Amino acid sequence: MVPKILISMGLFNDAIEFARSRAEVDLHTGQDPLPKSALMARLRDKDGLICQITDAIDDEVLGAAPRLRVVANVAVGYNNIDVPAAHRRGIVVTNTPDVLTDTTADFAWALLMATARRVVEADKYVRAGQWHRWEFLRLLGSDVHGKTLGVIGFGRIGRAVARRALGFDMRVLYQDTVRADAPTERELRATFVDMATLLHEADFVTLHSLLTTETRHLIDAAALRAMKKTAYLINAARGPIVDEAALVRALTERWIAGAGLDVFEEEPHVHPGLLGLDNVVLAPHIASASDATRHKMATLAVENCLAVLDGKPPLTPVR
Ligand code: DGY
Repeated sequence: MVPKILISMGLFNDAIEFARSRAEVDLHTGQDPLPKSALMARLRDKDGLICQITDAIDDEVLGAAPRLRVVANVAVGYNNIDVPAAHRRGIVVTNTPDVLTDTTADFAWALLMATARRVVEADKYVRAGQWHRWEFLRLLGSDVHGKTLGVIGFGRIGRAVARRALGFDMRVLYQDTVRADAPTERELRATFVDMATLLHEADFVTLHSLLTTETRHLIDAAALRAMKKTAYLINAARGPIVDEAALVRALTERWIAGAGLDVFEEEPHVHPGLLGLDNVVLAPHIASASDATRHKMATLAVENCLAVLDGKPPLTPVR
């Protein structure tokens, strides 16, 4: 029997056609994510689900899908899925690691550079017709080269961010639950430190952890106060890792110099306190959004889904 898949989001046509070559596809084409009740109704007769980070796949949703064998998230992060509940029900969960590592690291650097060198402020200044003469003291930013980068979450993306710091002659400190092996530390010239040391010494603190109960609000008021007044916070991981209200205070009262944010606590809602600030660069969760990478993510998600439905091991399972 041909398996049935729900694709809960607009994907590239080639990825949809690939899924259609081996399954009957029910494609949600609306701009907004499916409401929970609609998602549950459409999952009732499905064997596979290809979903996105805005779909909350909780125990109730899974319970409404008696035939479901695989949930293929088109993202590396999977905090939108109750993985233990899926596993309890014998449902395989997959994500899209590796294919987006470098693209995401590039964007963390784009935020870092834009924040340090005030690129968005400069752009607004020129567009507003305020540039009447070259001024020696105008839009002074912070150097990046030779500074200290603090990487929190030293997995694939954190390491790719650290690798880029080599070209800027930076000192790299990192913190993770597990220490990297010695060859990796040597190659990336990265030093494992405790959180207090990282926050105290880094000029740029960049977040690359998964969102878990342990990392929720990891960067709270106390952490922000522990950072240098001249330091910048970069978040291209998950919004709730940072206490956004505390960050607004930190930026407004200049506990830190600035921030570059691709992710927010309640996306797509952005804390109104951030919107009026010049010392923060805001992006709508686009770190992995290069054309090539989004194609690879879509293809990998379909491959994962079809592999499980074919009775084969998925390429990139979440364990
Ligand atoms: C991810 O992959 O987890 C990103 O946040 C969305 O691309």
